[in-house]
Amino acid sequence: MKFFADTAEIDDIKELAATGLLDGVTTNPSLIHKSGRDFMEVTREICGIVDGPVSAEVVALDHATMMKEADVLRKIADNVCIKVPLTMDGLKTCKALTGEGTMVNVTLCFSANQALLAAKAGATFVSPFVGRHDDNGFDGMELIRDIRLIYDNYLFDTEILVASVRHGIHVLEAAKIGADVMTAPPSVIRALFKHVLTDKGIEGFLADWVKTGQSIV
Ligand code: G3P
Repeated sequence: MKFFADTAEIDDIKELAATGLLDGVTTNPSLIHKSGRDFMEVTREICGIVDGPVSAEVVALDHATMMKEADVLRKIADNVCIKVPLTMDGLKTCKALTGEGTMVNVTLCFSANQALLAAKAGATFVSPFVGRHDDNGFDGMELIRDIRLIYDNYLFDTEILVASVRHGIHVLEAAKIGADVMTAPPSVIRALFKHVLTDKGIEGFLADWVKTGQSIV
């Protein structure tokens, strides 16, 4: 499963990219607002840090303006992936952009039927929001299971990008179901490295190592 960081914070992206485990980045208008940075400038900077897809979202609601915005955004770098909302105009834009060889991430997906439409529109990625689905009394992971089943039934190439990830259980379940990608805030990705027994084990080994009086280098 590929790991994308859901953030526009450069320091976090640099730290995670340095591990060699970061496959891409997703942003949205709220994350750009939170960063306080200029959209074009920060997107260009992120594209220079990671080789993988960097999602940049259009804000227009109509197809013609979405195309104009996408045209500006895709010129930033070769690894820009245009993010469009799961609406009729969004999918029309998706179809046109992927037809021209531009990567598209169809976002704000909350049903398996919407995911089916995104795949039919040739989306590179579809982003079902599991956390927001859970928040509203639905089962986010059941949605991922349904989309996986449908995409496998018809051998769709669209990658399932599990979004709105809130904790490690979401990551674990997404991997068990066979989602292609998950995008999570840096704090959630950092927490995946941690286990209390790993810390305890290191502490115990180091305490005994000091007693040997030896050094490796
Ligand atoms: O970037 C889309 C998605 O991951 C947003 O997550 O936490 O705002 O529901 P959240």
